[in-house]
Amino acid sequence: MSIIADDISYTYNTGTPAESAALRGVSLTVERGEWVSIVGHTGSGKSTLAQHLNLLLTPQSGAISIDGVEVKPGSKRSREFRRRVGLVFQYPETQFFAETVRAEIEFAPSNWGSRGDVLKERVDEAVSSSGLDPLLLDKNPFTLSGGQRRRVAIASVIAMKPDYLVLDEPTAGLDATGIKELTQLLGKLRNAGLAVVQVTHDLRSALSLSDKILVLENGSCVVYGSPELVAEYLVDNPVRGLVIPPVVRFVSGLREKGIDIPLNSGLGEIIKSIEVFKGRL
Ligand SMILES: Nc1ncnc2c1ncn2[C@@H]1O[C@H](COP(=O)(O)OP(=O)(O)OP(=O)(O)O)[C@@H](O)[C@H]1O
Ligand SMILES: [Mg+2]
Repeated sequence: MSIIADDISYTYNTGTPAESAALRGVSLTVERGEWVSIVGHTGSGKSTLAQHLNLLLTPQSGAISIDGVEVKPGSKRSREFRRRVGLVFQYPETQFFAETVRAEIEFAPSNWGSRGDVLKERVDEAVSSSGLDPLLLDKNPFTLSGGQRRRVAIASVIAMKPDYLVLDEPTAGLDATGIKELTQLLGKLRNAGLAVVQVTHDLRSALSLSDKILVLENGSCVVYGSPELVAEYLVDNPVRGLVIPPVVRFVSGLREKGIDIPLNSGLGEIIKSIEVFKGRL
């Protein structure tokens, strides 16, 4: 079960002076249970790609398939497919409209026909799996902190019981604790079988968390694959707007000295590899 973007392209305002090619022939596969990161400079096309995965935008060429079905514009099933792929927007608070957090989270499932106890259960489940404090349910979402608002946005999407969760820069504007908590939450959701697609500027966290990474530059994919493969590419090929984490540079230097160690190693692996190397001298 997967989302497959096959060679998709998208240009805003085609044929006008404001024409802007946002995606140029991008392909990507997201399997359920996987963590996929999309990284790239500002304006590289990340949000445009995220919106294609949730069918909010339709590719002008190429195709999007969800769970084996190519979803065509205007298809009767596109509503059901959009439920399967939850999208948390880059600035989710701009989408809030309800007066209470509870009403915000109830909106999508009640639109899908949930009522009474079923609706309450959906909301309770979404609140618990998004780590939102239930005491906030009767508050106005606009009075919450940035981290709490992010959780409300995630809970509203989870309440639709999606199979894929696409989050556009979910950690932007959060402090270190907020980032850690959100990352742990996404890890839990992934372990529960959801696919997590995270748009991020943070190459370091993408390298340590993802099963696959797609790097965009000016709407084109420059490299796509495992963190190891992407780190290896980026060490030799600088990409606009992406800073190689110092630890990756350090490991790259160790490799040049003959220490056999994956480029996206953590501290524990680095120490172990150096000890093994020293033992061999
Ligand atoms: N609604 C729009 N109308 C016209 N052009 C747009 C629109 N949205 C995005 N673009 C253009 O498409 C390109 C890709 O934009 P997109 O928002 O997908 O980039 P991004 O990688 O998400 O950037 P950021 O990191 O700043 O969020 C940019 O050149 C942008 O100016
Ligand atoms: Mg964006």
